[in-house]
Amino acid sequence: MIPANIPSDAPGLTARALTYTPGVSSVTPPDLAATATHLTPVLGRYFERSWSHGDGHRLYDTSGKAYLDFANGIAVTALGHRHPRVTAAIHAQVDRLIGPTGAIGYAEPVARLAAMLAGTLPERLDSVMFLNSGSEAIDAALKLARRVTGRPGMVAFRGGFHGRTFGAMSITTSNLNYRTGYEPLVPGVYLSPYPAAYPEFDGDAERAAAAALAALGTVLETEISPSKVASIVIEPVLGEGGYQPAAPSFLVALREICDEHGILLIADEVQTGYARTGRMWGFEAAGIIPDVVVVAKAIANGLPLSAIVASRTRMEQWGRSAHGSTYGGNPVACAAGIAVLETIAEERLIENAATRGEELRSGLDRIAAEDPRIGNVRGRGLMLGVEFVHDETGQPDGALAKAVIARAADLGLLVLTCGMSGQVVRWIPPINATSAEVSEAVEIFAEAVRTV
Ligand SMILES: Cc1ncc(COP(=O)(O)O)c(C=O)c1O
Repeated sequence: MIPANIPSDAPGLTARALTYTPGVSSVTPPDLAATATHLTPVLGRYFERSWSHGDGHRLYDTSGKAYLDFANGIAVTALGHRHPRVTAAIHAQVDRLIGPTGAIGYAEPVARLAAMLAGTLPERLDSVMFLNSGSEAIDAALKLARRVTGRPGMVAFRGGFHGRTFGAMSITTSNLNYRTGYEPLVPGVYLSPYPAAYPEFDGDAERAAAAALAALGTVLETEISPSKVASIVIEPVLGEGGYQPAAPSFLVALREICDEHGILLIADEVQTGYARTGRMWGFEAAGIIPDVVVVAKAIANGLPLSAIVASRTRMEQWGRSAHGSTYGGNPVACAAGIAVLETIAEERLIENAATRGEELRSGLDRIAAEDPRIGNVRGRGLMLGVEFVHDETGQPDGALAKAVIARAADLGLLVLTCGMSGQVVRWIPPINATSAEVSEAVEIFAEAVRTV
């Protein structure tokens, strides 16, 4: 039945498309692109494919073809599709309480997830505010820092991606299109180079860190006094900007600068958190403790949920009703979040991510060694990037990376691109991927690279 509010002659919309049930073979799978007339063309899509359902680490298109899903909705379904424990938790909570309760009191899964999340972090990070998306959480962290310090300045790093809302966008520089036409952006942002080891430093992370630190010193000497800076925001591994890990020494130096000048260090762990880098949190590689940790993506394995975590003292300084959210901390999303953390702990998925990451890396290194169009393989844990370059000039080759992921999809593997020119194929497999799946993916990728 076509819902009453949709005219039955709406372009591209058919009763069959609306009643299609995955797995029912008597119904011809619809090409959903044809029914998408009313979906905005603004949203960027990596593929023009129509998806039917997901099962574990496979995503199925509407013709029934299976794809090994190593993209996970951009690092969101980190436990794979319809993970039984997460699905069961969602079902149980849906039958108990769906609606948000934040504004009227407390609900058990929300309080429990806050305690569990805090339990994964250093002791002083003990107070959690739940929100709905990474961007929203970044904005919240920036607001906390301004209000608590009473200072205007926000320092961020070039090439960073922090989201689409005005605050997050204003510190995002991974692509001009994310900012163009929205000016004036939020004032008070100061940008400094990310300690990116490629291509300028040929993979030497320490030299990259030293240069970036010197540049940051210049910003703090010539553009804004550190006494006016509220926050320094960093992704421990640059995400959309190209999968470049920051040297631990750089994060240690940032911590020292923040301590010396009373600046809050905000770790954007939206992509790097939840075992992605082979540790629960990306910042752990440097042995530092940020003042605010921003969490999203994998937190509820696909349901919309995000969080910022800081000390209770900072949250109290921020003040009652200084920030809020109608939907943040939805009980169903939080129930999913509990199941995610339980699964990570019980199935030892941090260790799994680290081990599978090593396997994936050596497979990708082998492919790179035989192909001059691959400039380098980089990253941490299960957050790896393969950079494609023109073999004569060494310049980034976004068109080639795009062709490779299209070919890989044809061959049954989903991987995405990132980087300023889209030249990096990024790998964000499920953190519970198996060795056999990693081998399968490497094999398909080798074939894709060979045949583009
Ligand atoms: C590092 C980082 N921060 C923030 C965001 C924004 O998150 P969202 O898209 O949930 O708003 C993203 C999204 O890709 C991200 O990768």
